Amino acid sequence: MQAFWDFSETAPVRTESRSTPLRNPHVLPDMKITSAEFLTSATGLRSCPRGELPEFAMIGRSNVGKSSLINMLTERRGLAKVSATPGKTRLLNFFAINQGRGQWLLVDLPGYGYAKIAQEKRADFNEAVAVYIEGRENLLCVFVLIDSRLEPQRIDLDFLQWLGERDMPHALVFTKTDKQSPTATRANVDRFKQALSAWRAELPPLFLSSSETKAGRGEILRFIEQTMTA
Ligand code: GTP
Ligand code: MG
Repeated sequence: MQAFWDFSETAPVRTESRSTPLRNPHVLPDMKITSAEFLTSATGLRSCPRGELPEFAMIGRSNVGKSSLINMLTERRGLAKVSATPGKTRLLNFFAINQGRGQWLLVDLPGYGYAKIAQEKRADFNEAVAVYIEGRENLLCVFVLIDSRLEPQRIDLDFLQWLGERDMPHALVFTKTDKQSPTATRANVDRFKQALSAWRAELPPLFLSSSETKAGRGEILRFIEQTMTA
């Protein structure tokens, strides 16, 4: 008999191949955050903590709201450093979530697209981050944060293409939805989807979020739980 949380009909997230498609969960009780603590910072893959736990990482342009999203998901104000000045997060910051059984790691990555000279043919993002994403075996999914107020940005599309070429499972989180009307958000999300589908057969899972209103919190946590148990 199938338990109500059985997602056997949905594709597993990461089995033999990193290219396995990701799907949105349907029903799963909300994941409870019982603890959330800063674990360590790393300058790159070699200084990361041991890779034995399921890991999820936040990436996106500087100032898009990566650190704020971590605080919103964990309901810990000030856990990840938030700043109105772009480029605040410089290191790979690891947070241990739900210590004990069911523990997992959340990683705040440095933003891309800030204070770097534009390079012609490749996405302008941190080399250490690229090496981390390519080499971190326990990384189950990268959340790519997109500012919901903006038209599709070349740098985000380039980064998604780069992830796709590496078969790295990823999901999109459209941030700061509290800053505009749902109609305006929907229009930008649709434009983004359209831009992606120009070269992609399948779109990644997609979430709308606000660190102010906590919109998207339940869905993102459910997705994390589903990914860990797939
Ligand atoms: P870097 O570490 O510099 O790459 O930035 P980041 O992506 O971690 O962004 P951060 O979380 O520091 O947020 C940047 C600014 O946006 C801060 O002033 C936040 O308060 C604000 N912000 C982030 N998320 C939201 C949101 O959902 N709604 C609103 N209104 N403001 C937000
Ligand atoms: Mg940050």
